Amino acid sequence: MEQLIKNALLTDESAAFFADVLVREGKIAAIGQNLSCAGEIIDAQGFTLMPAFVDLHCHFRDPGYTHKEDIESGCRAAVKGGYTAVNLMANTNPVCSDMETVRYVRKKAEEIGLVDVHQCVSVTKAFDGRTTEHLNELDKTVRLISEDGKGVMSNYVMAQAMKIAKRKGLTILSHAEDMELSPFDYRLAENIATVQHIHLAGYLGARLHMCHVSTREAMEEIIRAKQAGAPVSCEVAPHHLWFYDTDYRVNPPIRTKQDRDFLIQAIKNGYVDAIATDHAPHTEEDKKNGAPGMVGLETAFGVCYTILVKENGLPLTVLSRLLSASPARILGLQKGRFLPGYDADFVLVDEGRRWTACAADFASKGKNSPFDGSHLQGKVIRTIKAGKTVWQE
Ligand code: DOR
Repeated sequence: MEQLIKNALLTDESAAFFADVLVREGKIAAIGQNLSCAGEIIDAQGFTLMPAFVDLHCHFRDPGYTHKEDIESGCRAAVKGGYTAVNLMANTNPVCSDMETVRYVRKKAEEIGLVDVHQCVSVTKAFDGRTTEHLNELDKTVRLISEDGKGVMSNYVMAQAMKIAKRKGLTILSHAEDMELSPFDYRLAENIATVQHIHLAGYLGARLHMCHVSTREAMEEIIRAKQAGAPVSCEVAPHHLWFYDTDYRVNPPIRTKQDRDFLIQAIKNGYVDAIATDHAPHTEEDKKNGAPGMVGLETAFGVCYTILVKENGLPLTVLSRLLSASPARILGLQKGRFLPGYDADFVLVDEGRRWTACAADFASKGKNSPFDGSHLQGKVIRTIKAGKTVWQE
């Protein structure tokens, strides 16, 4: 089975150029001029074709909280936002601490067939804050572990987890929060935990990825560690690039304009590895009762295009690296680049399109978005996975 996408401006992390893309059996077969094909031909004249996006940080609430989101509604939100691969956090019910829950999620996702779903396992068993032996039982298909939603409070426990992670080739995603400090000062809570996790990882030689970095000081620590050659990567969330000085409830919180500007500068200087949504659906009632988080899959591209490309002059190639190539590398996927043999997962975007985010129209069950009503530029109009269209405007 072949597909051919013609006349688009191709943009990935390495270049922007006009060419045709030939897809065979779900993989990129050739990139070049005047290609022909026996199957479907998509004329993408006037639009930009990018590798589909890869989200390192999502909550699909399945199992356990499927009234907020489930694998199917999460996958539908993902493809609408241009994502064909997501990595799910473990704060489900039960907490994802074993292969049985990982297999449950994967099976459901495979049956739906829209998105490649990867699943994190919790750093401590059932988030008990102490037990790390369950990590020894994970098979090689699990690549990332995370306690997201909570911080790992004990440095001793984190050190034990890092030792196992190093031996098994796992990457630790750090939700850097000293929860004892949070009620006192949420900023200090992130900064202290960031320093601790970076030092532990550097000392033990474990691979560490810092999630949703939100303060200037935390980013400065990461930059120092990177300059010293530590195996640390990091992500920022679209909402921390857009909002400042507001009290919409999310963890980590929305910070100040100085923090926001520093994160954008860190992106421009090449210190940020990925933009990840932290897509966190909640019911209206849970939000009223103070649940932290917002949905983000369906607004991420428009938000990032507007704030980074349009307002801050970031080349779209760099945004492509942050949304596709680099998170794919962290997950170990052959996605996110226009290279023969890579997965034929693409997103067609209209760079000039101005649109207004409307939470009521989200495919996600979660309508909790402070972006509701925001004016954005840059819109996903079609998402293609393994050569097949999985969402179209
Ligand atoms: O705001 C947040 N919501 N931050 C987290 O770390 C967890 C997430 C959730 O699960 O709702």
